[in-house]
Order: sequence, then structure tokens, then C-alpha cells
Amino acid sequence: MKEHWDEIYAVLDTDELTWYEEIPEPSIRLLSKCQINKDESILDVGAGASTFIDYLLNQGFKNIIAADISEIALNRIKARLSKEKTSSVRWIVDDITEPVHIQDIRDIAVWHDRAVLHFLLKEKQQKVYLSTLKKVLKNKGYVIIAAFSLKGARKCTGLDVKNYDQNLLAKFLGEDFKLLDYFDHTYYMPSGVPRQYIYALFQKT
Ligand SMILES: C[S@@+](CC[C@H](N)C(=O)[O-])C[C@H]1O[C@@H](n2cnc3c(N)ncnc32)[C@H](O)[C@@H]1O
Repeated sequence: MKEHWDEIYAVLDTDELTWYEEIPEPSIRLLSKCQINKDESILDVGAGASTFIDYLLNQGFKNIIAADISEIALNRIKARLSKEKTSSVRWIVDDITEPVHIQDIRDIAVWHDRAVLHFLLKEKQQKVYLSTLKKVLKNKGYVIIAAFSLKGARKCTGLDVKNYDQNLLAKFLGEDFKLLDYFDHTYYMPSGVPRQYIYALFQKT
């Protein structure tokens, strides 16, 4: 998987990625519903080259963790940030299905995942993802997950995906999590082709 993602990030410019967002508006919408302070921790799992990190920095969040299996991806974000901003983020190169570093994190107030969980097809990978999420998330912490919806694409970057709706996400997270909000979102790829996503916000009870 690491080679797969490294290869994609090595070949495509950030704004050519088929998930690139100039402004991550749907994530921002759900984040605005989370009652958190600027010094609480936000973990972006599979952050890639996402502009969500830039947004969080610009909003003054002080405890941002960007994790991804691809170091090349994270370097893309670093390359467009000032030195000061780069050093204020914690960068973690790790595989969420075999976490070495992420599982040592604690007290995350917001777990943000856009388009990562849907690549985990094996039950074991999903189990590790969930147990890691539960370990690192603080009490009453929030979970934002965006995935291809049931009406969405069945593949991305040549990889099969598992499609979700809010009920499947709720079932995946289990009874310790309350569904606070959700919506369908049509994302337009740089080519102009639409992709259907489900966005959901949960809170650990
Ligand atoms: C479709 S991209 C989405 C990137 C970013 N979340 C965004 O919205 O722009 C999926 C990202 O997940 C990362 N990824 C895939 N499998 C992963 C894994 N097992 N552990 C950590 N990151 C992973 C990829 O490197 C890639 O950056």
C-alpha cells in the first residue's frame, strides 16, 4: 500500500489528485459542530496532501497531527507551509492498519478521516483501525468520517473500496458512538466528474 500511494503522490500534482479540494468545505462544516478549544488535538488520519491541515493552522488550532502512510504526501503539505507552521504540526508516517506511532497518541478531540477507511476491505484492517481510534480518542471526542457513499464509486486509484452510508458507519463504530450529523456530498474531481460521498459526525459517549 505504501508503494501504491507513494507512486501516486510522486506522479500527480496536488491539484491533480482525484480527491483534491481547494477548500475542504464539508469537513469544515462538521468541524464547526464540534465544541472544542483551539488547543485540543485534531488528528487527520490519511491526511495526504490535504488543505484541511492548512485550514486548521489558519484557524489557530495548535495541536494538529497529520498522519499518512506516504511520507511523500505529507511532504507536499510541508512544502507549502511556512517553517513555523510546519514545525507546529506533528507529522506521522504510519499505516493505520499496522500502527506503530499512532497508537501511542492519546486525548484526541477530533479524529478526521476523509477517504481512508473506505480502502480498508479486510475485517482485520477495519478492526485495527477501530481499536486505534478508540485508544487515541478522548472521552466525548468527535469522529468525522467521509467515505464513498452507497451511490458512490466502487474504486479509487485502481483500488476497490467499501461504500458506506451513515448507518453502516454507525454500525462500524458501534454503540459507544452517537451519530450527531451527516449529509451526502457530491465532490467534483479535477476532471469535473462527480463522486458521491457520505460525511458523518459522531461523538464518543
Ligand atoms: C484518497 S486519499 C485522501 C487524502 C486526504 N484525506 C484528503 O482528503 O485529501 C487517501 C489517503 O490515505 C492514505 N492512506 C491509504 N491507506 C493508508 C493506511 N493504511 N494508513 C495511513 N494512510 C493511508 C493515502 O496515502 C492517501 O493520502
